Amino acid sequence: MSNRLAGLLAALLPLAAFAASAAEPRSSARIASPDARITVDVTTDNEGRASYAVSRDGRPVIAPSRLGLMFTDVPKLERNLAITAQRSRTHDERWEQPWGERRRMRDHHNELRVTLAETTGSKRRFDVVFRVFDDGIGFRYDIPGQAGLERLSIAEELTEFDIADPATAWWIPAFEWNREEYIYHRTPVEEVGLAQTPITLRTNDGLHLAIHEAALVDYSGMNLTRAEGRRFKAALTPGTGAAKVDVAAPFATPWRTIQISERAGGLVESQLILNLNAPNALGDVSWVRPMKYVGIWWEMHLDRKTWASGSKHGATTAHAIRHIDFAAENGFGGVLVEGWNVGWDGDWFGNGETFSFTRPYPDFDLEAVTRHAREKGVTLIGHHETSGHAAHYEAQLDDAMALYGRLGVQAVKTGYVADAGQAKVRGDDGALRYAWHEGQAMVRHHQRVVEAAAAQRISVNPHEPVKDTGLRRTYPNLVTREGARGMEYNAWGQPGNPPEHEATLVYTRLLAGPMDFTPGIFGMDTKSGAPMATTLAKQLALYVVIYSPLQMAADLLEHYESRPEAFRFVRDVPVDWEETRALDGAVGEYAVIARRERGGDDWYLGAVTDDSARTVAVPLDFLEPGRRYTAQIYRDGDGAGWRADAHAIAIETREVGAGDTVSIVMASGGGQAIRFVAH
Ligand code: NOJ
Ligand code: CA
Repeated sequence: MSNRLAGLLAALLPLAAFAASAAEPRSSARIASPDARITVDVTTDNEGRASYAVSRDGRPVIAPSRLGLMFTDVPKLERNLAITAQRSRTHDERWEQPWGERRRMRDHHNELRVTLAETTGSKRRFDVVFRVFDDGIGFRYDIPGQAGLERLSIAEELTEFDIADPATAWWIPAFEWNREEYIYHRTPVEEVGLAQTPITLRTNDGLHLAIHEAALVDYSGMNLTRAEGRRFKAALTPGTGAAKVDVAAPFATPWRTIQISERAGGLVESQLILNLNAPNALGDVSWVRPMKYVGIWWEMHLDRKTWASGSKHGATTAHAIRHIDFAAENGFGGVLVEGWNVGWDGDWFGNGETFSFTRPYPDFDLEAVTRHAREKGVTLIGHHETSGHAAHYEAQLDDAMALYGRLGVQAVKTGYVADAGQAKVRGDDGALRYAWHEGQAMVRHHQRVVEAAAAQRISVNPHEPVKDTGLRRTYPNLVTREGARGMEYNAWGQPGNPPEHEATLVYTRLLAGPMDFTPGIFGMDTKSGAPMATTLAKQLALYVVIYSPLQMAADLLEHYESRPEAFRFVRDVPVDWEETRALDGAVGEYAVIARRERGGDDWYLGAVTDDSARTVAVPLDFLEPGRRYTAQIYRDGDGAGWRADAHAIAIETREVGAGDTVSIVMASGGGQAIRFVAH
């Protein structure tokens, strides 16, 4: 029997099983993807422990892996379970993103809802809901209200992921002081320790998997701890009390997701995470404005200016006006000003109690700056650095957002600079509690910020955030975030990001959602003097490779003014897209991405490589057949390379069509950017 046929039969099975389910408890249930290639099996063993397994084309991907929940106040839900009911349904829906890496989305999946009930004692029950797509699976616990489980004080989720085949893993450690800002490890899966998600795996047969979560709402972020061999267990981020999560039943957990693709690029093109999030809850979001921005920012990271007041203060009225004029002249939407508000003068790292979110420093005329910005059609991008003191920020939140709302500020960058576990939240008793950045209390905090911002039609860009789980679908003003090592590490240069960093991010962190990476460094100066692992062409390519609806041109303005030919690409490149293709690439080695601008015919291509110079042949079959395009090419020039000449760039044009193939030549640490102008 062919794999396809086996899958098709598997897809039909649950209907038969459902018919039988009312009569007697069954010990297994099955569902397959719409294309019948991915199958999920749920079983209980003879001790009544439940597991799920995932296979693709009949071959195991996730070996049988346990399900269950552990509580702080009542016995765990794990043993003596029986499948007492199962229901399946098919869902096929098309929806549109208001802004995004693509406009048109399709949510096509088969769903299996399995009810597991205890066969002994108080016979508590819960559902596990599986959604199986052609590009992977998601599942969540859905726990009804019932006697003895009115409140869920969750000590741990007993979910497991047992990787069936040997694989290479790309991962960053969990629960380390620097939160999500670590260089990715590339190890055999058996050498992964305690990892954050998304974690990306490539089996020795070349199948790509990414384990993550979707719709992290009122819960703690999930990490993965390797139990033995290739078997991982969920490790929820701790809460502020004994329980990691404390909620009232009924409650549905975030989705646990496993994206599956033969191609690395298939992970990038997967729509699974967004499809598992709830639709837009904000109504009209036409006020959310994707844009490029410049800012009073990079110079602080180079120590040439300060956030604090004094002779080197960056956020002065004159400096802000210079940036607004530059933004207006170059068609950029925003100007970020950091260090505008009172509170930066002491040791602000981890000490947020000094910040005022409404009082500007005396040399920064907030009213005049925002008036000038409005006159120029530019918005100030506000800045709320909290140093992790969420409670202090929340006390000012409504006033802070109202001020920005009144001044026409359309977006705010928030920040939570504090060691992991050192965020501060207010407990129900009014006392301050230390919290993890990804625990339930901070998940709730970020939701409050997003809602308070939405009330003033403001978009939010959190740094040191909670990981992205696709909530931008539900809250389209949650436009982007940091949550990885961004460009700032290259300013410090001790060491900076390695040359493979961006080609790793594409297939790891960026699977979660947009990132405010802040590309566009032309000057290449670093504080330490260490060279940056990039070329100028790579900096241009990042505008296409890294998706973010708020995309910074992060360098000093004079560096753009002195290189107008290369800067033209930064001016031209859009931030909102009709469609996206991940054309070629290998995790941590290189990536070639093409995107068509929203509401337009032009295509843009970005390619980045690691330390190895490489040439990639890219067929242009994504272009419209029969149409001619002028390719404006920005490539690594003669002698380019991150250790050699980072600035060597060649800019040239060629006429091309869909039948052509371009040869993308990249230097060590380099890249290439192309705009295809449609005729
Ligand atoms: C860390 C952010 O990532 C960075 O962009 C910002 O400049 C500093 N915090 C200060 O808020
Ligand atoms: Ca940061």
